[in-house]
Amino acid sequence: MDKIPGIKVYAPATVANVAVGYDILGFAIFGPGDDIKVSQGTEPGLTISMIHNGYNKLPKDPLKNTAGVAALSVMEAIGKSDFPVNFEIIKNMPFASGMGSSAASAVAGAMGINEFFGNPLTKMELLPHAMKGEQVADGAYHADNVAPSLLGGITLIRSNEEHDVIKLPSPEGLYCCLIHPNIKILTADSREILSDKVDLNSFIKQTGNLGAFVASLYRLDLDLLERSLQDVVIEPQRAKLIPHFYDLKEIALSNKALGFSISGAGPSLFALCRNSLDAENVGKGIKAFLKENNIKSTVYISKINNEGAIKY
Ligand code: HSE
Repeated sequence: MDKIPGIKVYAPATVANVAVGYDILGFAIFGPGDDIKVSQGTEPGLTISMIHNGYNKLPKDPLKNTAGVAALSVMEAIGKSDFPVNFEIIKNMPFASGMGSSAASAVAGAMGINEFFGNPLTKMELLPHAMKGEQVADGAYHADNVAPSLLGGITLIRSNEEHDVIKLPSPEGLYCCLIHPNIKILTADSREILSDKVDLNSFIKQTGNLGAFVASLYRLDLDLLERSLQDVVIEPQRAKLIPHFYDLKEIALSNKALGFSISGAGPSLFALCRNSLDAENVGKGIKAFLKENNIKSTVYISKINNEGAIKY
């Protein structure tokens, strides 16, 4: 039997929730993300030989690893469970950061296997497999990081259970400033503090904002987007997990951010901006404030990544 040539895949970091869509909205950015080198292994089934960049604590057992679980699920679906395959995982973003780290691994795992075997499944068909992988990380089944990392762009999930995902238009010129303060928040902990009740007034405001946000993308109307990016349900509950959250928000908005909120479960924060200059100014202002308060941070400036996961 001829050896199948090795390949590499990249799955990008993502901003989930996007202020008004808890568990149902997300977008992908360029830059940080996870890479996986996929090659033919030496023993039947999937092995993970290496996880690079200091992630020694992540399990190499494929059954406990987000990329591994996603990949095993794809292998089973395409009838290749016993084929020898090996992963080398290269994580290029911080863990427990709110940047979709576990989702990027899961997407790269599913995508890597699919590419290795010559693409038997479409990207959309890979979604449930990647979701299964991400579920290992926080126990919940939601695609708001996985869908944009896989498919690219801004994605809306009508139903996580039914994998009903809609890719929304990304207005040209829209920039994201993503700030990662050097603190860790586990997604499971950040979900645990949320009330399972929403009062009717907040429900009305949040659904109005969500609908208007989606409309603003179709209308390419950034003024409407600016009015819509207000989370009255989740952000007020999670803000206390992030030191100086409301000072940071004021800095972002005074530097012309269209909106500012928590990226995913935090601690990362994001601003959407009209152009790269505004995004850079937001990043500089926030980084300087965090430094004055003895918190190191990393700032990423990016357009919306419309492509999502790729083989390279
Ligand atoms: N929607 C998720 C949350 C994203 O906010 O908990 C993080 O996995």
